[in-house]
Amino acid sequence: MKLGVFDSGIGGLTVVKSLLEHELFEEIVYFGDTARVPYGIKDKNTIIRYAIEAVEFFKNFELDLIIVACNTVSAYALDEMRETSTCPVIGVVESGVLAAVNKLHDKNADILIIGTKATVNSKAYEKALNSLSYYNIQAKATGLFVPLVEEEIYSGEILQATFKHYFHDTKVPHAIILGCTHFPLISGELQNYFGEDTILIHSGDAIVEHLEKEFIFSKKYKEPNLKFFASENPEALRNIAKKWLGL
Ligand code: DGL
Repeated sequence: MKLGVFDSGIGGLTVVKSLLEHELFEEIVYFGDTARVPYGIKDKNTIIRYAIEAVEFFKNFELDLIIVACNTVSAYALDEMRETSTCPVIGVVESGVLAAVNKLHDKNADILIIGTKATVNSKAYEKALNSLSYYNIQAKATGLFVPLVEEEIYSGEILQATFKHYFHDTKVPHAIILGCTHFPLISGELQNYFGEDTILIHSGDAIVEHLEKEFIFSKKYKEPNLKFFASENPEALRNIAKKWLGL
């Protein structure tokens, strides 16, 4: 299978990392819209317009599947992308919800969703969880984590101060949905902050779980063909990809 992965910037590389660990695809074409990141502070129409442009870009590659590795786009633009795409499109919100539900058998479990302002305002996670009878949900926009991760600040004082800023009055939840693809890079510190009993749901792992349920993967690809594109400074994205993915 030939896969396209779309994100607003570099965060979707955390999803690619999970995909590579499971050796599911023969070819992965990554597109990060680095010229226009962050999407998380933009309005719905803008996010949809950018997402449709990404579908047009992917039409150059005869893909079998597109994964939207951006929670913000998954929350707002999946239907519109599906209407214009010639191949199936799947997003991380649906997968994240399924992964959470698989891990939380108690419907009264306290779930904390963290993501960008746009993702939180969309209520996409709440709506999906409510439809499965999970109602103890709190959502917090924690957008400052995005530039911190972009600055490669994965630990230390600034991150701890940001945790306090956002979570000083937050009850320890049973699970946290990392509703932004940048957040897996600070998941170790988040786990330390909330404690070992809190389950963290990561978009990358969730999408692999979802794919393995929906599709039959009869072959493993140890050395897939990887192509990285960005709307601005593709070299910088390729360098980060090399570092994060150990290429
Ligand atoms: N990748 C985006 C997401 O998962 C976060 C960065 C942005 O605001 O564009 O929501």
